[in-house]
Amino acid sequence: MPALPTFLYGTAWKEDRTAALTELALRTGFRAIDTANQRKHYFEAAVGEALSAAYRKGIITRDNLFLQTKFTYQRGQDHRLPYDPCAALATQVMQSLASSLEHLGTDHVDSFILHGPASHHEWTDADVEVWEAMQKERDAGRTRLVGVSNVALVHLQQMKSSGTELPAFVQNRCFARLGWDREVRSFCSEHKITYQGFSLLTANPEVLQHSPFLALARSLAATPAQVIFSFSRAVGILPLTGSTDPEHLKQDLASLDINLPLEIVQGIESMSG
Ligand SMILES: NC(=O)c1ccc[n+]([C@@H]2O[C@H](COP(=O)([O-])OP(=O)(O)OC[C@H]3O[C@@H](n4cnc5c(N)ncnc54)[C@H](OP(=O)(O)O)[C@@H]3O)[C@@H](O)[C@H]2O)c1
Repeated sequence: MPALPTFLYGTAWKEDRTAALTELALRTGFRAIDTANQRKHYFEAAVGEALSAAYRKGIITRDNLFLQTKFTYQRGQDHRLPYDPCAALATQVMQSLASSLEHLGTDHVDSFILHGPASHHEWTDADVEVWEAMQKERDAGRTRLVGVSNVALVHLQQMKSSGTELPAFVQNRCFARLGWDREVRSFCSEHKITYQGFSLLTANPEVLQHSPFLALARSLAATPAQVIFSFSRAVGILPLTGSTDPEHLKQDLASLDINLPLEIVQGIESMSG
């Protein structure tokens, strides 16, 4: 059973380059892959092709790989649905995961994520049905862990107050101007939920263009992106990168070896928001 990953390679928006880039990430040393059964933004079957090539070439084995996929409601999909849209939501969840397992050539994933709740403002009855169905998939051994994505504090609070099982993961876009999603992160740390952060670079140009931050990166002989990723680990964020550049992929992994002094971590955390 693979331990929790330290860095996730994200496979969104890669279309025909998905297989080659996923294999490149694995060859570079990534051991955790994030995908989704949402053809609009991800090409999950091509991720599966990369995995089988990597197994064949001896780059990885299934046992040392962390695989994460997602269930996406119909409104987040285009016409290429991995389930029958007329079926009950619980059935859609089952069909979506069965299709993911086929795409990925495995009998289980390590993490299965609800891509986004049905409403931005509350945890709805639809979410309750989907979340229960996801837990049944977990209990049946088709995923090790279950999680949620694109959630606000209110969703997590409602889950808690209704007494439902809390997620193992929260995967959110992480804005520095919101204190790096401070409220959600603090709920997560209080409830032992692993927070996964995406768009750490693209959502935060004001940090990456801030002269003192650039000077700090230079003084550490690191790239600005590496400082962001290293900072994220230091505050308990499990980062995602979807880099398409071989050098960036190496730099992203190398950021795990950078140890930022506490005062620098605190300085970055309070830079905005
Ligand atoms: N749950 C959700 O709703 C959701 C939404 C969005 C994304 N995600 C997941 O998160 C993954 C990552 O997405 P993201 O939004 O964080 O964006 P991303 O696809 O990782 O893009 C990040 C940008 O940063 C650049 N970059 C990466 N490493 C760099 C480095 N070391 N130095 C300089 N530039 C660097 C990349 O350029 P290069 O290609 O040139 O390196 C790219 O332009 C996705 O693939 C997906 O798996 C999930």
